[in-house]
Amino acid sequence: MSKESSDLIMDMLHARSGSLENGEPISPPIVTTAKYKLSGTPDTPYTYGRDINPTVEAAEAAIRALEQASVVAFPSGMAAITAGLMATANAGDRVLVPSDGYYVSRVLLEDILSAHDIHLDAIPTKAFSTTDLRSYAVIWVETPSNPGLDLCSIRSIAETAKTTGAKVVVDNTTLTPLLQRPLDLGADLVVSSDTKAMAGHSDCLYGHVATRDEALFEKVWKWRKVSGSIPDPFASFLVHRGLMTLELRLQRMCANAEALVDRLEDHAAIQALKYPGIGFVIGLTFADEAQAERFIDDCPAIFASTSFGGIHTSAERRARWGDAVPDGYVRLSAGCEPTDALVSAIEATLESL
Ligand SMILES: Cc1ncc(COP(=O)(O)O)c(C=O)c1O
Repeated sequence: MSKESSDLIMDMLHARSGSLENGEPISPPIVTTAKYKLSGTPDTPYTYGRDINPTVEAAEAAIRALEQASVVAFPSGMAAITAGLMATANAGDRVLVPSDGYYVSRVLLEDILSAHDIHLDAIPTKAFSTTDLRSYAVIWVETPSNPGLDLCSIRSIAETAKTTGAKVVVDNTTLTPLLQRPLDLGADLVVSSDTKAMAGHSDCLYGHVATRDEALFEKVWKWRKVSGSIPDPFASFLVHRGLMTLELRLQRMCANAEALVDRLEDHAAIQALKYPGIGFVIGLTFADEAQAERFIDDCPAIFASTSFGGIHTSAERRARWGDAVPDGYVRLSAGCEPTDALVSAIEATLESL
Protein backbone atom coordinates (compact mmCIF):
# COMPACT_ATOMS: atom_id res chain seq x y z
CA MET A 1 0.00 0.00 0.00
CA SER A 2 1.57 3.32 -1.08
CA LYS A 3 2.13 6.22 1.33
CA GLU A 4 -0.52 8.14 -0.56
CA SER A 5 -3.08 5.34 -0.04
CA SER A 6 -2.13 5.10 3.64
CA ASP A 7 -2.84 8.82 4.02
CA LEU A 8 -6.26 8.44 2.38
CA ILE A 9 -7.11 5.52 4.65
CA MET A 10 -6.02 7.45 7.73
CA ASP A 11 -8.18 10.39 6.61
CA MET A 12 -11.13 8.05 6.13
CA LEU A 13 -10.73 6.19 9.43
CA HIS A 14 -10.48 9.46 11.32
CA ALA A 15 -12.99 11.48 9.30
CA ARG A 16 -15.26 11.59 12.38
CA SER A 17 -12.74 11.92 15.17
CA GLY A 18 -11.79 15.56 14.61
CA SER A 19 -15.35 16.82 15.01
CA LEU A 20 -16.40 14.73 18.03
CA GLU A 21 -17.13 16.36 21.39
CA ASN A 22 -16.55 14.43 24.61
CA GLY A 23 -19.33 11.89 25.09
CA GLU A 24 -20.34 11.64 21.43
CA PRO A 25 -20.50 8.17 19.83
CA ILE A 26 -17.52 6.95 17.79
CA SER A 27 -19.76 5.22 15.25
CA PRO A 28 -22.25 7.38 13.35
CA PRO A 29 -25.76 7.25 14.86
CA ILE A 30 -28.48 5.91 12.54
CA VAL A 31 -30.74 8.95 12.27
CA THR A 32 -34.15 8.01 10.89
CA THR A 33 -36.20 11.12 10.44
CA ALA A 34 -38.22 12.63 7.64
CA LYS A 35 -38.35 16.04 9.33
CA TYR A 36 -36.16 18.26 11.48
CA LYS A 37 -37.31 20.96 13.88
CA LEU A 38 -37.58 23.99 11.63
CA SER A 39 -39.34 27.09 12.82
CA GLY A 40 -39.23 30.47 11.15
CA THR A 41 -36.65 31.25 8.48
CA PRO A 42 -34.79 28.02 7.55
CA ASP A 43 -31.28 28.79 8.88
CA THR A 44 -30.00 25.21 8.99
CA PRO A 45 -29.13 22.75 6.19
CA TYR A 46 -31.22 20.16 8.09
CA THR A 47 -34.59 21.01 6.59
CA TYR A 48 -36.12 17.79 5.25
CA GLY A 49 -35.09 14.14 5.03
CA ARG A 50 -35.12 14.11 1.23
CA ASP A 51 -32.36 16.74 1.19
CA ILE A 52 -29.96 15.73 3.92
CA ASN A 53 -29.39 13.16 6.67
CA PRO A 54 -26.55 12.92 9.23
CA THR A 55 -25.92 9.18 8.67
CA VAL A 56 -25.74 9.72 4.90
CA GLU A 57 -23.33 12.58 5.58
CA ALA A 58 -21.11 10.27 7.67
CA ALA A 59 -20.88 7.77 4.79
CA GLU A 60 -20.18 10.63 2.36
CA ALA A 61 -17.42 12.02 4.60
CA ALA A 62 -15.68 8.62 4.66
CA ILE A 63 -15.94 8.25 0.86
CA ARG A 64 -14.84 11.89 0.38
CA ALA A 65 -11.62 11.12 2.28
CA LEU A 66 -10.85 8.29 -0.16
CA GLU A 67 -11.80 10.17 -3.30
CA GLN A 68 -10.26 13.50 -2.19
CA ALA A 69 -13.24 15.08 -3.92
CA SER A 70 -16.81 16.21 -3.37
CA VAL A 71 -19.09 13.19 -2.99
CA VAL A 72 -22.83 12.60 -3.28
CA ALA A 73 -24.19 9.23 -2.08
CA PHE A 74 -27.02 7.35 -3.79
CA PRO A 75 -29.19 4.35 -2.94
CA SER A 76 -27.54 2.14 -5.60
CA GLY A 77 -24.82 2.15 -8.21
CA MET A 78 -27.44 2.63 -10.93
CA ALA A 79 -28.84 5.66 -9.11
CA ALA A 80 -25.28 7.10 -9.09
CA ILE A 81 -24.86 6.27 -12.79
CA THR A 82 -28.17 7.96 -13.61
CA ALA A 83 -27.06 11.06 -11.69
CA GLY A 84 -23.69 11.01 -13.49
CA LEU A 85 -25.40 10.93 -16.89
CA MET A 86 -27.94 13.60 -15.92
CA ALA A 87 -25.07 15.90 -14.88
CA THR A 88 -22.98 15.41 -18.02
CA ALA A 89 -25.24 14.56 -21.01
CA ASN A 90 -27.63 17.00 -22.67
CA ALA A 91 -30.23 16.59 -25.41
CA GLY A 92 -28.50 16.15 -28.76
CA ASP A 93 -25.34 14.68 -27.20
CA ARG A 94 -23.63 11.43 -28.10
CA VAL A 95 -22.23 9.29 -25.31
CA LEU A 96 -19.51 6.69 -25.93
CA VAL A 97 -19.84 3.61 -23.70
CA PRO A 98 -17.94 0.32 -23.45
CA SER A 99 -19.77 -2.53 -25.19
CA ASP A 100 -18.09 -4.88 -22.69
CA GLY A 101 -18.97 -2.79 -19.62
CA TYR A 102 -21.85 -3.05 -17.15
CA TYR A 103 -24.88 -3.67 -19.39
CA VAL A 104 -27.53 -1.79 -17.38
CA SER A 105 -25.73 1.52 -18.07
CA ARG A 106 -26.26 0.82 -21.78
CA VAL A 107 -29.91 -0.14 -21.17
CA LEU A 108 -30.44 3.19 -19.38
CA LEU A 109 -29.07 5.08 -22.38
CA GLU A 110 -30.68 2.90 -25.04
CA ASP A 111 -34.16 2.41 -23.60
CA ILE A 112 -34.69 5.57 -21.55
CA LEU A 113 -32.34 8.45 -22.33
CA SER A 114 -32.61 7.98 -26.12
CA ALA A 115 -36.19 9.27 -25.76
CA HIS A 116 -34.60 12.48 -24.41
CA ASP A 117 -32.38 12.80 -27.50
CA ILE A 118 -29.25 11.43 -25.79
CA HIS A 119 -27.63 8.73 -27.91
CA LEU A 120 -24.97 6.12 -27.42
CA ASP A 121 -22.26 4.36 -29.35
CA ALA A 122 -20.84 1.22 -27.81
CA ILE A 123 -17.32 -0.03 -28.59
CA PRO A 124 -15.06 -2.53 -26.81
CA THR A 125 -12.87 -1.06 -24.05
CA LYS A 126 -9.76 -2.15 -25.96
CA ALA A 127 -10.84 0.06 -28.91
CA PHE A 128 -11.06 3.31 -26.88
CA SER A 129 -7.39 4.08 -27.59
CA THR A 130 -7.77 3.79 -31.38
CA THR A 131 -11.22 5.39 -31.80
CA ASP A 132 -11.79 8.99 -32.83
CA LEU A 133 -13.37 10.41 -29.66
CA ARG A 134 -14.00 13.90 -31.00
CA SER A 135 -17.76 13.63 -31.65
CA TYR A 136 -18.65 12.62 -28.08
CA ALA A 137 -19.89 14.94 -25.34
CA VAL A 138 -19.46 12.21 -22.71
CA ILE A 139 -16.93 9.37 -22.71
CA TRP A 140 -17.98 6.65 -20.29
CA VAL A 141 -15.07 4.45 -19.17
CA GLU A 142 -14.89 1.20 -17.24
CA THR A 143 -11.36 -0.10 -16.75
CA PRO A 144 -11.08 -2.97 -16.07
CA SER A 145 -14.34 -3.46 -17.93
CA ASN A 146 -16.94 -5.65 -16.30
CA PRO A 147 -17.24 -8.51 -17.09
CA GLY A 148 -14.68 -8.55 -19.95
CA LEU A 149 -11.76 -7.31 -17.75
CA ASP A 150 -10.09 -5.34 -20.54
CA LEU A 151 -8.20 -2.13 -19.89
CA CYS A 152 -7.87 1.34 -21.39
CA SER A 153 -5.88 4.42 -20.39
CA ILE A 154 -7.95 6.94 -18.43
CA ARG A 155 -5.08 9.44 -18.68
CA SER A 156 -4.86 9.41 -22.46
CA ILE A 157 -8.67 9.50 -22.88
CA ALA A 158 -8.84 12.46 -20.50
CA GLU A 159 -6.08 14.25 -22.43
CA THR A 160 -8.00 13.84 -25.70
CA ALA A 161 -11.26 14.88 -24.04
CA LYS A 162 -9.67 18.11 -22.80
CA THR A 163 -9.08 19.17 -26.41
CA THR A 164 -12.78 18.73 -27.30
CA GLY A 165 -14.47 19.67 -24.03
CA ALA A 166 -15.94 16.18 -23.57
CA LYS A 167 -16.61 14.98 -20.03
CA VAL A 168 -14.90 11.76 -18.97
CA VAL A 169 -16.86 9.65 -16.50
CA VAL A 170 -15.29 6.52 -14.99
CA ASP A 171 -17.27 3.71 -13.41
CA ASN A 172 -14.66 2.71 -10.82
CA THR A 173 -16.68 -0.06 -9.17
CA THR A 174 -14.29 -2.92 -9.89
CA LEU A 175 -11.20 -1.26 -8.35
CA THR A 176 -12.44 1.32 -5.76
CA PRO A 177 -10.46 4.51 -5.03
CA LEU A 178 -7.86 2.47 -3.13
CA LEU A 179 -6.73 0.67 -6.28
CA GLN A 180 -7.40 3.33 -8.94
CA ARG A 181 -8.04 7.08 -8.66
CA PRO A 182 -9.57 8.24 -11.95
CA LEU A 183 -9.85 11.88 -10.82
CA ASP A 184 -6.05 12.01 -10.39
CA LEU A 185 -5.74 10.69 -13.96
CA GLY A 186 -7.87 13.50 -15.39
CA ALA A 187 -11.44 12.13 -15.28
CA ASP A 188 -14.19 14.66 -14.55
CA LEU A 189 -16.49 12.38 -12.62
CA VAL A 190 -16.36 9.00 -10.89
CA VAL A 191 -19.41 6.80 -10.40
CA SER A 192 -19.33 3.69 -8.25
CA SER A 193 -21.53 0.86 -7.17
CA ASP A 194 -20.66 0.73 -3.48
CA THR A 195 -22.90 -2.31 -3.25
CA LYS A 196 -19.72 -4.21 -4.17
CA ALA A 197 -16.31 -3.89 -2.46
CA MET A 198 -16.86 -0.49 -0.84
CA ALA A 199 -19.66 -1.79 1.42
CA GLY A 200 -18.21 -5.26 1.04
CA HIS A 201 -20.64 -7.49 2.92
CA SER A 202 -23.32 -8.03 0.25
CA ASP A 203 -25.98 -6.74 2.64
CA CYS A 204 -27.01 -3.42 1.08
CA LEU A 205 -27.21 -1.46 -2.15
CA TYR A 206 -25.34 1.84 -2.40
CA GLY A 207 -23.54 4.13 -4.83
CA HIS A 208 -21.72 7.42 -5.06
CA VAL A 209 -20.61 10.12 -7.46
CA ALA A 210 -17.30 11.96 -6.87
CA THR A 211 -15.96 15.02 -8.64
CA ARG A 212 -13.56 17.92 -8.15
CA ASP A 213 -15.56 20.09 -10.56
CA GLU A 214 -17.78 22.39 -8.51
CA ALA A 215 -20.34 22.92 -11.32
CA LEU A 216 -20.72 19.16 -11.85
CA PHE A 217 -21.03 18.62 -8.10
CA GLU A 218 -23.87 21.17 -7.91
CA LYS A 219 -25.69 19.41 -10.76
CA VAL A 220 -25.34 15.99 -9.14
CA TRP A 221 -26.43 17.30 -5.75
CA LYS A 222 -29.46 19.03 -7.23
CA TRP A 223 -30.38 15.90 -9.18
CA ARG A 224 -30.43 13.86 -5.98
CA LYS A 225 -32.47 16.46 -4.15
CA VAL A 226 -35.16 16.92 -6.79
CA SER A 227 -35.30 13.30 -7.95
CA GLY A 228 -35.62 12.14 -4.34
CA SER A 229 -32.80 9.62 -4.54
CA ILE A 230 -31.17 10.08 -1.14
CA PRO A 231 -29.95 6.77 0.33
CA ASP A 232 -31.43 5.16 3.39
CA PRO A 233 -29.71 5.93 6.76
CA PHE A 234 -29.37 2.25 7.67
CA ALA A 235 -27.65 1.41 4.38
CA SER A 236 -25.43 4.45 4.94
CA PHE A 237 -24.45 3.07 8.35
CA LEU A 238 -23.62 -0.32 6.80
CA VAL A 239 -21.50 1.33 4.09
CA HIS A 240 -19.67 3.44 6.67
CA ARG A 241 -19.00 0.35 8.74
CA GLY A 242 -17.85 -1.62 5.69
CA LEU A 243 -15.48 1.14 4.61
CA MET A 244 -13.61 0.93 7.90
CA THR A 245 -12.20 -2.46 6.78
CA LEU A 246 -11.95 -1.76 3.05
CA GLU A 247 -8.16 -1.83 2.96
CA LEU A 248 -7.93 -5.09 4.92
CA ARG A 249 -10.59 -6.77 2.81
CA LEU A 250 -9.00 -5.63 -0.44
CA GLN A 251 -5.60 -6.90 0.64
CA ARG A 252 -6.97 -10.41 1.23
CA MET A 253 -9.22 -10.37 -1.83
CA CYS A 254 -6.40 -9.28 -4.16
CA ALA A 255 -3.96 -11.76 -2.59
CA ASN A 256 -6.53 -14.52 -3.08
CA ALA A 257 -7.10 -13.49 -6.71
CA GLU A 258 -3.34 -13.53 -7.37
CA ALA A 259 -2.93 -16.95 -5.72
CA LEU A 260 -5.79 -18.33 -7.83
CA VAL A 261 -4.28 -16.88 -11.01
CA ASP A 262 -0.91 -18.48 -10.20
CA ARG A 263 -2.44 -21.89 -9.62
CA LEU A 264 -5.15 -21.93 -12.29
CA GLU A 265 -3.42 -20.25 -15.23
CA ASP A 266 -2.34 -23.49 -16.87
CA HIS A 267 -5.07 -25.74 -15.49
CA ALA A 268 -6.37 -28.24 -18.04
CA ALA A 269 -10.04 -27.56 -17.15
CA ILE A 270 -9.71 -23.87 -17.97
CA GLN A 271 -9.52 -22.77 -21.60
CA ALA A 272 -8.59 -19.16 -20.84
CA LEU A 273 -7.92 -17.11 -17.73
CA LYS A 274 -8.28 -13.33 -17.69
CA TYR A 275 -6.81 -11.17 -14.93
CA PRO A 276 -6.07 -7.49 -15.45
CA GLY A 277 -3.11 -7.64 -13.04
CA ILE A 278 -4.94 -5.73 -10.34
CA GLY A 279 -8.05 -6.29 -8.26
CA PHE A 280 -10.03 -9.28 -7.13
CA VAL A 281 -12.07 -10.26 -10.21
CA ILE A 282 -10.92 -13.07 -12.50
CA GLY A 283 -12.44 -14.36 -15.75
CA LEU A 284 -12.35 -18.14 -16.27
CA THR A 285 -13.48 -19.67 -19.55
CA PHE A 286 -14.69 -23.28 -19.39
CA ALA A 287 -15.39 -25.56 -22.35
CA ASP A 288 -19.12 -24.88 -22.28
CA GLU A 289 -22.08 -23.65 -20.24
CA ALA A 290 -22.66 -27.00 -18.48
CA GLN A 291 -19.10 -27.29 -17.25
CA ALA A 292 -19.05 -23.67 -16.07
CA GLU A 293 -22.33 -24.11 -14.14
CA ARG A 294 -21.06 -27.36 -12.60
CA PHE A 295 -17.90 -25.61 -11.39
CA ILE A 296 -19.91 -22.80 -9.75
CA ASP A 297 -22.49 -25.07 -8.14
CA ASP A 298 -20.12 -27.82 -6.99
CA CYS A 299 -17.45 -25.70 -5.32
CA PRO A 300 -18.19 -25.34 -1.59
CA ALA A 301 -16.01 -22.19 -1.41
CA ILE A 302 -18.06 -20.32 -4.01
CA PHE A 303 -21.41 -18.58 -3.63
CA ALA A 304 -23.36 -18.84 -6.88
CA SER A 305 -24.60 -15.29 -7.19
CA THR A 306 -24.51 -12.21 -9.31
CA SER A 307 -22.54 -9.15 -8.18
CA PHE A 308 -18.97 -9.16 -6.81
CA GLY A 309 -16.67 -7.54 -4.27
CA GLY A 310 -18.09 -9.25 -1.17
CA ILE A 311 -16.28 -11.06 1.63
CA HIS A 312 -17.40 -14.42 0.18
CA THR A 313 -15.92 -15.69 -3.05
CA SER A 314 -18.72 -15.68 -5.62
CA ALA A 315 -19.08 -16.52 -9.27
CA GLU A 316 -21.52 -16.44 -12.14
CA ARG A 317 -21.72 -17.17 -15.84
CA ARG A 318 -22.18 -13.75 -17.41
CA ALA A 319 -23.60 -14.99 -20.71
CA ARG A 320 -26.81 -15.70 -18.75
CA TRP A 321 -27.42 -11.91 -18.79
CA GLY A 322 -26.55 -11.59 -22.49
CA ASP A 323 -23.04 -10.14 -21.97
CA ALA A 324 -20.76 -10.50 -24.99
CA VAL A 325 -18.62 -13.28 -23.46
CA PRO A 326 -18.37 -17.02 -24.27
CA ASP A 327 -21.09 -19.29 -22.82
CA GLY A 328 -18.49 -20.92 -20.58
CA TYR A 329 -17.12 -17.60 -19.22
CA VAL A 330 -17.29 -17.34 -15.43
CA ARG A 331 -16.65 -14.08 -13.57
CA LEU A 332 -15.14 -15.03 -10.24
CA SER A 333 -14.83 -12.52 -7.42
CA ALA A 334 -12.23 -13.56 -4.87
CA GLY A 335 -13.40 -13.08 -1.30
CA CYS A 336 -11.72 -12.93 2.11
CA GLU A 337 -11.45 -16.68 2.81
CA PRO A 338 -8.07 -18.03 4.00
CA THR A 339 -5.98 -18.28 0.82
CA ASP A 340 -4.87 -21.91 1.09
CA ALA A 341 -8.38 -23.16 1.87
CA LEU A 342 -9.87 -21.23 -1.02
CA VAL A 343 -7.28 -22.36 -3.56
CA SER A 344 -7.54 -26.00 -2.42
CA ALA A 345 -11.34 -26.01 -2.63
CA ILE A 346 -11.31 -24.53 -6.11
CA GLU A 347 -8.57 -26.88 -7.34
CA ALA A 348 -10.43 -29.89 -5.94
CA THR A 349 -13.61 -28.86 -7.76
CA LEU A 350 -11.72 -28.38 -11.02
CA GLU A 351 -10.24 -31.89 -10.67
CA SER A 352 -13.73 -33.34 -10.24
CA LEU A 353 -15.29 -31.74 -13.34
C1 LIG B 1 -19.45 -1.96 -12.91
C2 LIG B 1 -20.81 -1.79 -12.30
N1 LIG B 1 -21.36 -0.56 -12.25
C3 LIG B 1 -22.58 -0.36 -11.72
C4 LIG B 1 -23.34 -1.40 -11.23
C5 LIG B 1 -24.70 -1.12 -10.67
O1 LIG B 1 -24.68 -1.10 -9.30
P1 LIG B 1 -25.96 -1.42 -8.36
O2 LIG B 1 -26.26 -2.86 -8.55
O3 LIG B 1 -25.47 -1.03 -7.02
O4 LIG B 1 -27.07 -0.54 -8.85
C6 LIG B 1 -22.82 -2.68 -11.25
C7 LIG B 1 -23.62 -3.81 -10.71
O5 LIG B 1 -23.35 -4.95 -10.94
C8 LIG B 1 -21.54 -2.89 -11.82
O6 LIG B 1 -21.01 -4.11 -11.90
